[in-house]
Amino acid sequence: MTDLADLPAWDALKTHAATLRDVTLRTLFAADPDRFARLSFAFGPLLADYSKNRITAETLGLLTELAAARNVESARAAMFAGERINRTENRAVLHTALRNRDPAGVVPVEGADVMPEVRRVRDRLKAFAEKVRSGAWTGATGKAIRHVVNLGIGGSHLGPMAVAAALEDSRRADISLDFVSNPDRAQIEDVLKGLDPAATLFIVASKTFTTVETMANAGAAKDWIVTQLGAGAVTKHFAAISTNTDAAAAFGLSPDAVFPMWDWVGGRYSIWSAIGLPLIIGCGYEACDQLLAGAEAMDRHFETAPLEQNLPVILALIGVWNVDLLGMAATAILPYDHRLRLFPAHIQQMDMESNGKGVTMDGRPVAVDTGPIVFGGGGSDSQHSFFQLLHQGPRVVPCDFIIAARGAANGGGKSRDLLMANALAQTEALMKGRTAAELRGVAAELVPHRVFTGNRPTTTLMLDEVSAYTTGMLIALYEHKVFVQGVIWGVNSFDQWGVELGKELAKSLEPAVTGGPLADKALQGRDSSTAGLVAAYLKAKGSP
Ligand code: F6P
Repeated sequence: MTDLADLPAWDALKTHAATLRDVTLRTLFAADPDRFARLSFAFGPLLADYSKNRITAETLGLLTELAAARNVESARAAMFAGERINRTENRAVLHTALRNRDPAGVVPVEGADVMPEVRRVRDRLKAFAEKVRSGAWTGATGKAIRHVVNLGIGGSHLGPMAVAAALEDSRRADISLDFVSNPDRAQIEDVLKGLDPAATLFIVASKTFTTVETMANAGAAKDWIVTQLGAGAVTKHFAAISTNTDAAAAFGLSPDAVFPMWDWVGGRYSIWSAIGLPLIIGCGYEACDQLLAGAEAMDRHFETAPLEQNLPVILALIGVWNVDLLGMAATAILPYDHRLRLFPAHIQQMDMESNGKGVTMDGRPVAVDTGPIVFGGGGSDSQHSFFQLLHQGPRVVPCDFIIAARGAANGGGKSRDLLMANALAQTEALMKGRTAAELRGVAAELVPHRVFTGNRPTTTLMLDEVSAYTTGMLIALYEHKVFVQGVIWGVNSFDQWGVELGKELAKSLEPAVTGGPLADKALQGRDSSTAGLVAAYLKAKGSP
């Protein structure tokens, strides 16, 4: 594959970027009263305003030419068609099949349609969740399940946890939902403190069923159930989701409570799979179906719209422009809605684990910067925390503001107006800044401190409300954006080899930190920092 930096389309973008270097957003807005209309996009309940980015219509045209030169359309078709586009793991990438709700939909992977199995698992999830919700599935003592605890990490945790927060208004008040990921016993013990074991169902969510953190928490939960209710109770108090259904069965689970997923679903793209089980129990099947419906609507748009009218493509290209042509290394995700407060953490994993890559698909070092550093948090809280840097720090961080016109808790009224005013004010401040000449009555020595350079890019996504449908749409929008960026950068967005080395070293360090006869051997050949820290740890815990 040709290096991105060697493409004529890339050269054209570089030349164009140089012409815009001294053009500010203020100037661009002043020059074109229709800028918002030209550089915004409405798609169903979602309005995307990207006019506060340092782009012009010409920028978007050149970026679209780049997307065409990188064959984004054929890459997109290959993904939807179930080709093995995750080449380093030799897998198809079909999270889109999981939200295909067309009863006649066919998605073949090498000739075999995956949809009958997808529908079969959906039906099983629906039936199982209904049994739990109705009390037909009881704990070992005959009590109805009233607490659900999800044990997972990464994509088996962040996605369901973020969506559970988004769907809070559909949640059954009499079924509690907790998410445990940290193998620090403090987390699970804090959660278990308030729970009645006879009414608790644990869901072990792990694509591989080998992830050490999740397995440690599953072991702790099993011990708790066995101590409280006896070994025979395990089958009634555990469910599992995994591609490794044999390991789940070996854990002692009832086959009725083991739900498969497939190697063609990446962990960070798995919220649409059986990984959604805690949501189906907590919020009901209908809400979860609407989540799929919103994502499916975004899929159809992404799959069929021409590049220049395709929202995930447009946002992806603006992201590439910010990272590579304007040299902005990070991006912040700032939802101004309490229900979406956990959304940034989910998108952070999805984006950074997908595009945080340093080699191209064919194994050569990338010639340009790839995935940005993604961070964020609830907009209101963040305003009073890290926004100082966003407004006046020397590094410019493009931001996504996410707001909903209607809010939970009776729509919002005044409180919604307050959120809206603040979110829009931030985008205005970041765009316009404030010059020294605009400062009135400020002591001369304070002027430099009170000036805002502005010219800082933001994109605003406005939803009509935070519903299951819009949440599905929003997550799918970001998934496809990340996919398109991966294609442009020429990386494999669907592997995650970068997480392996640390896992391997942790395994080999375990005997060292445990102490005892094998400790010395485990430390042999290790650097003095690691060895010194291990020694300090052993001393602190009183190991010889
Ligand atoms: O270590 C990273 C990772 O593999 C993520 O990609 C994944 O979401 C997470 O761990 C959890 O994996 P699993 O679902 O197999 O337990």
